[in-house]
Amino acid sequence: RSMPATTTKKVLLAAPRGYCAGVDRAVIAVEKALELHGSPIYVRKEIVHNKYVVETLTERGAIFVDETDEVPEGARVVFSAHGVSPAVRESADSRNLLTIDATCPLVTKVHKEAVRFAKSDQTILLIGHTGHEEVEGTAGEAPEHTIVVNSPDDVDDIVVPDPDNVVWLSQTTLSVDETMETVRRLRERFPNLQDPPSDDICYATQNRQVAVKKIAPQADLVIVVGSANSSNSVRLVEVALQSGANASYRIDRAAELEEEWFEGVETVGVTSGASVPEILVRDVLDALSARGYETVEEVRTATEDLMFSLPREIRADLKAKE
Ligand code: F3S
Repeated sequence: RSMPATTTKKVLLAAPRGYCAGVDRAVIAVEKALELHGSPIYVRKEIVHNKYVVETLTERGAIFVDETDEVPEGARVVFSAHGVSPAVRESADSRNLLTIDATCPLVTKVHKEAVRFAKSDQTILLIGHTGHEEVEGTAGEAPEHTIVVNSPDDVDDIVVPDPDNVVWLSQTTLSVDETMETVRRLRERFPNLQDPPSDDICYATQNRQVAVKKIAPQADLVIVVGSANSSNSVRLVEVALQSGANASYRIDRAAELEEEWFEGVETVGVTSGASVPEILVRDVLDALSARGYETVEEVRTATEDLMFSLPREIRADLKAKE
């Protein structure tokens, strides 16, 4: 006699998942700014691409704006984790804004590479998504020298001034496998394509993809917690599907789980993007438990202990208060 179906239901919880060091630092930067200076603290763009984080900080007194020209003269503004172009910095300076730069240090690293390659007059093929804030910021360091390459299919249409003087860089939150495919296609067209000194796809993006690859083949369904505009979260759904999950969906919160996804599903994989607070994952686990998926097995493929110091403007203000 077969066991009742409910006893075989389980959750495989990917680790690492959720907050990376850059997101943690950026969110704390806004919280500290509010503590130190009170409301309002302006934030240019979403500090990190997560609805819940933005809503929570808004309740605490942060005001999210699209551009610095929406910030009153002389007010305090935080630049988001995704980074800003020099033009944005100049515009903030021209309005005497007090800026707090929460750009992730791993994004800043890519900006510096872009500046260096542009100085030596190379054409930068920036692999990334047009319109994403990080890509706008990085491309903005050297707009005359940068071409954005969205996917392997873009490669054939690229026109460069000197095919022997090209280098590639990438957005930090892409799919590792797709990026390598784009680089392979680029090298076919430009055999002298130069590699960057180190990979730009950050440790957190890579670790979360490795972890979801591990659980996906055993999962009938993979739930990715993350917002629609979060690049690394959206990649996790793609990677889960490519790695053998029968189905995968991205949700912002537990309430978005749909009944029909669970038909015949025994093993549910769960992970979350780098901008997602763990409380949202806990809510999803509770909702799954209520559907009979009570056993939770964590599958860990790496441990992370990287931490970044807070933006220097915050450190200075904290020190002054001592
Ligand atoms: Fe930075 Fe990577 Fe997180 S670039 S903000 S550590 S996803």
